[in-house]
Amino acid sequence: MRNTPRYTIAIDGYSACGKSTLARAMARRLGYRYVDTGAMYRMVTLQFLRDGVDIEDDGAVAGAVESLEVDFTPGTNRALLCGEDVEEEIRGLAVSNFVSPVAALPRVRAAMRTLQRQWGADGGVVMDGRDIGTVIFPNADLKIFVTADLETRVDRRLAELTSAGRSATREAVKQNLLERDHIDSTRDDSPLRQAEDAVELDNSELSLEAFIDEGMRLVAELEEK
Ligand code: DC
Repeated sequence: MRNTPRYTIAIDGYSACGKSTLARAMARRLGYRYVDTGAMYRMVTLQFLRDGVDIEDDGAVAGAVESLEVDFTPGTNRALLCGEDVEEEIRGLAVSNFVSPVAALPRVRAAMRTLQRQWGADGGVVMDGRDIGTVIFPNADLKIFVTADLETRVDRRLAELTSAGRSATREAVKQNLLERDHIDSTRDDSPLRQAEDAVELDNSELSLEAFIDEGMRLVAELEEK
């Protein structure tokens, strides 16, 4: 009997382009583990905000990183920071406005990289972020780079915030996305860029179903190889 392959699937792209929606849906359909690496950086950021960690102070950053525990609730995948469910809190603008400078810190990235590689070591994983196909799993079986035009991304992020009962202006959301894109793609340590062997998937005009089907079609293609 042929063993079913347990692929490693890397999904990267700019903020709010639909990466997590795609990654979560594909993981569910495939029965794989889903890892939202953006949520990991958001948890670190929340802890830094709570403790007032000065990100210019390397010793303070090192101490804070060492003492925090980033995890997800099995099954539901809700963000767990030192055992506390912070899924809602990490999605607000306070964290969104501070996450990119925190995620640019090499100490923070090194700690998250170790966890991410550990969680994906056995395959059967869909991981989304900014550097999954380039740095975390350069040998991933499938790499998808998701894009969507800016206005679509703003609309979606606004709808997400509104449905979570949070208020934000269109301008504030747009500025946050632009600023994060800029910091995320210009930092020295693992900047956001499309891996050469990634398949680009433009999500601007696709329905949710068509978007997910397209991702699953790419997995089916792997099986034909
Ligand atoms: O995907 P997201 O918007 O939840 O990610 C939040 C921030 O975390 C994003 O602005 C950049 C950072 N990030 C990163 O640097 N590397 C990753 N692999 C994932 C996210």
